Amino acid sequence: MSKAQTQILFYLFITLFIDLPFPSFADVGVAAQYSPPYLPTGCYGGEALQFPSSNLFAAAGDGIWDNGAACGRQYLVRCISAEKPRTCIPQQSIQVKIVDYAFSTVSTPSATGTTMVLSQKAFQTIANSSAALINIEFQQV
Ligand SMILES: *[C@@H]1O[C@H](CO)[C@@H](O)[C@H](O)[C@H]1NC(C)=O
Repeated sequence: MSKAQTQILFYLFITLFIDLPFPSFADVGVAAQYSPPYLPTGCYGGEALQFPSSNLFAAAGDGIWDNGAACGRQYLVRCISAEKPRTCIPQQSIQVKIVDYAFSTVSTPSATGTTMVLSQKAFQTIANSSAALINIEFQQV
C-alpha cells in the first residue's frame, strides 16, 4: 500500500469514528410512547415543574428503573430501526429526563416491557408518531 493510500484509509477511519453520533458504549433497547395525562408520576408525584421545558421526558422500564434511582437521570436517545421502514427520523437524537416508572404511568404505554416509554414530544422528535414501538440506541449522560 502506498503512503497516500494509507493516509486516505487513516482519514476515512477518523471520519467514520467522529461521525458516529454515539460512542460504542451506548446500549440498544426498545421504546414505546405514552400520552397525557402524565401526572402524577412515579418519581415526583403531582409536581408540575418536574417536566423539562422541552417536554422531552420518559418513563423507565425495568431494565433501567434501578429501583427508583433512575429518577432524574438523563438519557441521549436515538431511533435506530422499527418494524416499518422509514419510521425513524434520520439524524435526530433527544435528551430525555426520567420522571416515571413504565409500570405506573397514568396513561397506558403503546407497548409493554420496553426499555423506556417516551413522552409524545420525545417520541415524535425521533420517529413517526404513528409507530407503537421503535428500536433505540441510548446512553446515560
Ligand atoms: C407515518 O406513518 C403513517 C402510517 O404508517 C404514514 O401514513 C405517514 O405517512 C407517516 N408519516 C411520515 C411523515 O412519514
